[in-house]
Amino acid sequence: MTATKGLEGIVAAASSISSIIDGVLTYRGINIDDLAENASFEEVAYLLWYGKLPNRSELDELQKQLDQYAEVPKEVIEGIKLYPKGTSSMAALRTAVSSLALYDESANDMSPEANQLKAIKLQAQLPTVVAAFARIREGKEPVAPKKGVSIAYNFLYMLTGKEPAEVAVKALDQALVLHADHELNASTFAARVTVATLSDIYSGVTSAIGALKGPLHGGANEAVMVMLEEIGTSANVESYINNALANKVKIMGFGHRVYKNGDPRAKHLQKMSRELGKLTGNMELYEMSVKIEELVTGQKGLKPNVDFYSASVYTALEIPRDLFTPIFAISRVSGWSAHILEQYQDNRLIRPRADYVGPVGAKYIPIEQR
Ligand code: ACO
Repeated sequence: MTATKGLEGIVAAASSISSIIDGVLTYRGINIDDLAENASFEEVAYLLWYGKLPNRSELDELQKQLDQYAEVPKEVIEGIKLYPKGTSSMAALRTAVSSLALYDESANDMSPEANQLKAIKLQAQLPTVVAAFARIREGKEPVAPKKGVSIAYNFLYMLTGKEPAEVAVKALDQALVLHADHELNASTFAARVTVATLSDIYSGVTSAIGALKGPLHGGANEAVMVMLEEIGTSANVESYINNALANKVKIMGFGHRVYKNGDPRAKHLQKMSRELGKLTGNMELYEMSVKIEELVTGQKGLKPNVDFYSASVYTALEIPRDLFTPIFAISRVSGWSAHILEQYQDNRLIRPRADYVGPVGAKYIPIEQR
């Protein structure tokens, strides 16, 4: 038995939710480019869960359910108020999502109907949790979710307490569409491993949030912004990047395990970043990003991934840097839950083997003789 480090190239599940074939990403067979241009995030969530695009009445019904469940239990909000000062946003989200299970009587109901409803509840509640955390840490009261509006609108509204601009809602909605699912990425795999023990959906999503938090996965979008802030201006890009590459420092937002010729989602975020830069009259972050891309792609052949331009997009939307990864989770919970439901449908415990490389035949030595 020899291990494949990082399970590279290993096919670990059969899935009909999303595919990456020859560098093309599809959700349920529909090209991501098509969805990014035309679909709302709610339509995409429906597509991931039910395997087809909703008709008008199905979408209306989903909107009603999202409206119904967007409020989170007051105990969860009170819990957030007790988190220590300086708690990281992803640690807060992980803890709050885990605590949502405590106030859901159906948390351990494993019927397909109950699990589907919990997927919708989680989708409805994650934006409320993230926005509430962001306000509470600033000493503000959370803003209650609005009914009859999109998740993108509601999130921006709950974050600021103000009606968001149409262009901001559209940009965030498109970003949510682009992040919704991505085959067997690390967090989705973590979710599937967890629920394959027949554990509950909240446990699966909590595991996934933990996996998303790391900078090699979802945490990269925040790390990109840290880098852009460190660089400061376009004039510093060349020396910063050359120095980083010479010292073998990884440039956040570049490279991908599966895409070697570029991430199909990145071009949409780049376009959005350029357009928002023009609209806000501040092109600096966009221009810095383009310069970084030229250098990193030119010297290392590495292309930007989904996280690279999302940093400048979210900054243009005036979203605090440490909420970038929680926004990823707000979108990806649609994919996680679709995968969890799929895992339950045809489950088998996920239990691979290890290539043991430790000592052999070692003996127990009594403590006095050590
Ligand atoms: N900057 C500089 N060099 C890089 C980068 C990078 N971003 N990514 C890969 N490389 C180099 C590695 O140093 C390595 O070089 P070497 O062979 O000389 O040692 C080679 O390319 C292969 O890299 P691995 O890390 O082995 O590739 P792997 O497939 O394991 O990792 C990953 C993919 C984690 C995405 C990697 O490219 C990376 O760390 N990127 C930066 C973090 C990031 O942007 N993560 C988000 C990914 S997308 C997502 O999760 C939503």
